[in-house]
Amino acid sequence: MRPERPADAGWLALRMAADDEARSATLEPLINPLVEWLQAAHPAGTVNVVDLGAGTGSNAHWLAPRLPFAQHWTLVDHDAHLLSRADPPASFTGRTGKLEDIGRILAEAAADRHYPTALLTCSALLDVLNAAEIEAACAAAAKSSCAVLFSLSVTGNVSLSPKDPMDAALAAAFDEHQRRDGRLGPDAPATAEAALRRQGMKVRTAATNWELDATSAPLFRTWLEEWVEAAVEQDAGLADRSRQWVRQRLEQLESGELSATVGHLDILALPG
Ligand SMILES: C[S@@+](CC[C@H](N)C(=O)[O-])C[C@H]1O[C@@H](n2cnc3c(N)ncnc32)[C@H](O)[C@@H]1O
Repeated sequence: MRPERPADAGWLALRMAADDEARSATLEPLINPLVEWLQAAHPAGTVNVVDLGAGTGSNAHWLAPRLPFAQHWTLVDHDAHLLSRADPPASFTGRTGKLEDIGRILAEAAADRHYPTALLTCSALLDVLNAAEIEAACAAAAKSSCAVLFSLSVTGNVSLSPKDPMDAALAAAFDEHQRRDGRLGPDAPATAEAALRRQGMKVRTAATNWELDATSAPLFRTWLEEWVEAAVEQDAGLADRSRQWVRQRLEQLESGELSATVGHLDILALPG
């Protein structure tokens, strides 16, 4: 099973180092309370984790070694090809499935392992979902009394240095492109936070921004080109000016002048 516009495994690999660095900011505010809650709520047995939109398994790669107890991960993705490349450092089962089946996925993961699902997590997924899908995921987690960790959701806050008058127009067009077909794009983190609170969960957040500069040039270049490509797909009127903008930005990257902050947010929710 392959989705219409599959995620690219090369892109997922390229972003891993920046994701890992960004997530280090969550250790104290989010991972410590998560570990404490999991230890108290599931004192015996294996902790059962479901990772939605798992792709090639980056989320488990980062999180599994930071959970100091036995775990079993169920990696769920609608793209069987990406899942077949996953090899995280934890006991795991790969399962093709769609977020719309979240209730059944949580129930089956619990039945397979003979333990309730303790944690529902995802990384870099929320922006491609619509409001009903996010609502369904939060409701299913609350019904299963499991913790939630939604990691690395884009916020739409992009700031480049040095600044250029065209940055804002490109950012606005990119955000609109992300909102196509009812997707939430940069509105997803606020929607998820509100949905989790409505379910009576205790919510905390931490910024997990990418800080890009010449030391992360391969990721920076690819991100920049794809950011502009999406913006121009949204607003063809930007095409001519954007070519000059990209040329100048790549020259600045090459000479070490360019840096960028790309906003992401991590959300932890614990049953109330
Ligand atoms: C940007 S990738 C992130 C992959 C991985 N979590 C990571 O951090 O590298 C988003 C993933 O979500 C999957 N995905 C998107 N929408 C989905 C849906 N409705 N149900 C299941 N998987 C979905 C895609 O196939 C892709 O693997």
